[in-house]
Amino acid sequence: MSDDRLIVALDVPNILLGQRLAQELGNSVSFYKIGLGMLTTGGLALANELKQEQGKRIFLDMKLFDIPNTIENAVRGFTQFDLDFLTVHGDPHVVAAAKQGAAGSGMKILAVTILTALDRQDLDNCLIQPGDVSDLVVERAARAFEAGADGVISSPHEAAAIRALPEAEGRLIVTPGVRPAGAELGDQKRVMTPAQAIANGADHVVVGRPICKAPDPMEAATRILAEMRSPQALQPNH
Ligand code: C5P
Repeated sequence: MSDDRLIVALDVPNILLGQRLAQELGNSVSFYKIGLGMLTTGGLALANELKQEQGKRIFLDMKLFDIPNTIENAVRGFTQFDLDFLTVHGDPHVVAAAKQGAAGSGMKILAVTILTALDRQDLDNCLIQPGDVSDLVVERAARAFEAGADGVISSPHEAAAIRALPEAEGRLIVTPGVRPAGAELGDQKRVMTPAQAIANGADHVVVGRPICKAPDPMEAATRILAEMRSPQALQPNH
């Protein structure tokens, strides 16, 4: 049985491989993320096909960042694709403009707080203010919510602190950086299991390689879904 708390990142090079993977996953998966890597190789066409022909939910991960007028126009353009989630960077002017562009559509705007691949040294290089990265993530989430974000993307490690923010009431937390117990980490450094992420307050978990690169993707997805429904998913910080 599918469960839309699991979002599978279709991180494959082109539309044909995306179609094949979605076919293999069949009814076990109901929500897909399509990212920048597929934008020039049919990503939007695949999004349309999965939505219109198969009734899947779609998260388009574009991580937009620009001046307000450009963001508003770009986001308004994306509303023609009947998407469920769209990401922008969490800077308040970007989030507010994205919400204007999405007005009248059902598309939710998710704010990226700080890219999880960046550490303090990278932030120093970007001239981002000093301080603990986790604290900055939580502060940026609060500001994104104040600017109107429907949700934020965060590591599962910050999910509990974001969930505790008064501003997070009724908003979504979506966490990549999730690995089932015993899975390879790839380039993700600060991972948690799907059950831990849900227990920490995530509404959706995004999983890519542990499913896309599995010898049997359907079996991998089914195992993760079972873990998300396990009793551990109800115990914060287990
Ligand atoms: O393969 P893996 O499960 O690590 O894939 C996670 C997905 O989530 C990828 O599509 C990646 O781009 C995305 N993502 C992430 N960290 C963020 C934002 C998005 O890993 N901060």
